[in-house]
Amino acid sequence: MPKDWFEWHDLYNTEPKLQQRLQIVREYISYSLNASPLGKIRVVSVCAGDGRDLLGTLANHLRAKDVYARLVELNPNLVERGQATIASLGLAKQIEYINGDATISSNYVGAVPADIVIVCGVFGNLANEVELNRLLGNLSFLSKQGAFVIWTRGHSNGIPYSKTVRKFLRESRFEEVNFQLTATGDMGVGIHRYIGENVAAPKEEHLFVFSGIPSQAR
Ligand SMILES: C[S@@+](CC[C@H](N)C(=O)[O-])C[C@H]1O[C@@H](n2cnc3c(N)ncnc32)[C@H](O)[C@@H]1O
Repeated sequence: MPKDWFEWHDLYNTEPKLQQRLQIVREYISYSLNASPLGKIRVVSVCAGDGRDLLGTLANHLRAKDVYARLVELNPNLVERGQATIASLGLAKQIEYINGDATISSNYVGAVPADIVIVCGVFGNLANEVELNRLLGNLSFLSKQGAFVIWTRGHSNGIPYSKTVRKFLRESRFEEVNFQLTATGDMGVGIHRYIGENVAAPKEEHLFVFSGIPSQAR
């Protein structure tokens, strides 16, 4: 059992579910970059961890130099590791970390509305469906109209939680572009397009409450 979120990232070395999830997330990021019009592409990553999904994609992507990204992550060790990767890719002028609270809207000011919003490893760490709906509602502050939103949701105890996420996304003005389950069958990865209007000011300062703990990550 991982004792903190830094240790949780070690599971990427051993867990097929996480490895397959990462591969699909990178495919979807790559797809979104390919589908973006010429020019600047703004990306935000909510609870970004060490950024391996975005940074691993940019390492081999022709549009890397067009990407201006903000990654928001609370754990300083993960931020440090992510920043080292950014430096090694020569992207330090375009990609920044905020070592801070991703639930607070002010940490996104200047970086949104984004063309691509990455919300991976977040939906399973919300207290309930009310919180999920609240976060989905607040994504209108992070997302441009037409933005791609890439997300993950694990299943547990035989409950296909990703079905609920897809239903709620449909009801919150997100159109499904693609959805896959990992080959392990217990992790959903989706890419949706936001078809609503961008909301220039957030409805509330706290976009959501992250209530998960690493030893019970979902
Ligand atoms: C399940 S991990 C997902 C990390 C990354 N998105 C990924 O998919 O590899 C959840 C992440 O959220 C971070 N986190 C938890 N609460 C946070 C908060 N309030 N603000 C920013 N990051 C937070 C943790 O430190 C951890 O890195």
